[in-house]
Amino acid sequence: MFSKIAIIVMAGLLMLDTSPGLAEEVPDFPLTVQDEITRKECGDCHMVFPPNRLTVGGWTKIMGDLGNHFGEDASLTPKNAKHIKAYLLSKAMDAKKRVPVEMTLKQWKKKGIVDPIRITETPNWQRHHTTRKYKLMSKELKYMNGSNCIICHKNAERGMYEEFPGLYGLD
Ligand code: HEC
Ligand code: HEC
Repeated sequence: MFSKIAIIVMAGLLMLDTSPGLAEEVPDFPLTVQDEITRKECGDCHMVFPPNRLTVGGWTKIMGDLGNHFGEDASLTPKNAKHIKAYLLSKAMDAKKRVPVEMTLKQWKKKGIVDPIRITETPNWQRHHTTRKYKLMSKELKYMNGSNCIICHKNAERGMYEEFPGLYGLD
């Protein structure tokens, strides 16, 4: 037999379950990079970049020169370097043969861009980041470089770039 208290507790739980406030919460999308070692070693100085925005060749160059990583020393133990390289290469944009990617890479090549080591150098990136909106935002945030996506795209590590949650009245 239920005691009075048990019934009250159960009723409370049921109410929690159906309360309208909870239903409105936005679910968290999964992190694009789930690999713990990559998150730890490649997320100290900037966001953890999504591997599918650079090619196998680009990541190979980056991982081959961590001692002089854009002017910083980002070197790792051989064990971690090997692990991260394997992870990045397995998820690079051209890790699997796919026709749309091959077409994109052909377009890049026509512009002289082959295996870039910066996402911000790719035509795909530049197309979105030469607009008036981008110029206004980078000026307002005093961040002119573009590299650290998460400064503007707050949900970049969860793969969301479309929205700027209520920022800067630019939308
Ligand atoms: C010690 C700090 C540091 C660590 C650790 C580090 N980086 Fe960087 N990274 C930088 C700096 C500095 C830049 C240049 C940023 C700029 O131009 O504003 C950069 C830029 C990059 C860029 C180019 C971004 C763009 O499109 O402009 C990539 C890709 C990158 N890092 C990948 C990695 C990976 C992969 C790791 C882990 C193996 C890593 N970084 C670890 C400091 C670091
Ligand atoms: C200084 C702020 C800023 C930084 C840093 C930045 N972005 Fe953006 N990004 C923007 C703005 C603003 C737009 C929208 C441009 C427009 O529509 O006029 C945009 C658009 C995009 C879009 C297109 C979204 C859509 O509408 O589908 C992608 C994808 C994107 N950015 C990825 C990146 C990545 C990857 C990085 C880091 C390498 C980055 N951005 C860094 C401001 C920024």
